[in-house]
Formats: sequence, structure tokens, C-alpha cells
Amino acid sequence: MYVTALRNTHALEKQAAQMIQRQIERYEHYPELTQALRLHRSETDQQVARLADLLHGHGEDRSLLKDVVTQTVGNVAALVHSVTGDEVLKNLYTDYSVETYEIAAYTSLIALAEEAGQARDVETLRQSLEEEERMAEAVFAQIVPVTKGYVAREARGEKADR
Ligand SMILES: [Fe+2]
Repeated sequence: MYVTALRNTHALEKQAAQMIQRQIERYEHYPELTQALRLHRSETDQQVARLADLLHGHGEDRSLLKDVVTQTVGNVAALVHSVTGDEVLKNLYTDYSVETYEIAAYTSLIALAEEAGQARDVETLRQSLEEEERMAEAVFAQIVPVTKGYVAREARGEKADR
């Protein structure tokens, strides 16, 4: 149960990293948001590595950590958003959902680790949980400025979508 949850979270984080990377590559006019995404991109890579280490500690072969195909909101939504005129706004909603999803996942994972008697893993998981909490706040803090920036660019007839 616990190891399965570790595996699922590992797959989730790999997808989240891809989603974040795609946004970083596309954004041109939202430097603060892009900066927050860059920071969290490197945190997410570390989270993937932490989960791989924990899985390895539970006997999982690193090379067998295949990307489980999961239908998370992020990937699908980011693709759809790229063809709408308000890509950055829709991505913000998705990013906030993904971060709060991850907060729920790590909170549950910590409880599962405790129940499985794997207290040694908890500190590592808490580190990732704290990063998710900070990123959720950072994304939330961008919602108003990015929305207002979007409106201002639109009003000036400038490219606003990303
Ligand atoms: Fe995250």
C-alpha cells in the first residue's frame, strides 16, 4: 500500500515536472511566474529523486521505475490551454490544483509511512510536502497580478496569453 503510493507519487511528480517545463518554455511575458516555476522545476526534480531513493530503499529496482500512465489533470489541461487565448490564466488554475493535489498526496503518504512503520521516510516526505505548500502559496500569489497584467496587455493590444 505504502510502496504503491510512493510509486504513484513518483509518476505524478514526473508528470508535474513535464507540465512545469512546458510552461517555462512557453511563457514570454510573465517573468515572476516563470521564476517561481523555474525554482519549483528544480524542487520537483529533487522530489522525483527522493521518491526514487525511498523506493530503492524498499527494494524497488531504479531501472524498473517506469512512468506509469496516469491521467492527471495537468498534462491534458496544459495541452488544451495552449490553444485558448488565456493560456496563462488557465494554467494558473491547473498549477494551483496540481500543487494542492500534491499536498494531499504527500500528507496521505506520510500517514501511510507512519502506519507502515516507516518513520525513517517521514522526514524526507515532509521536506517535499513543505516545498509543495510553498509552491501552492507562490502560485496563489500570482493569480491577481498575472490576471491584472493579462488584462493590461490585452487593453494595449499586446500579446497576453503567455
Ligand atoms: Fe509541486
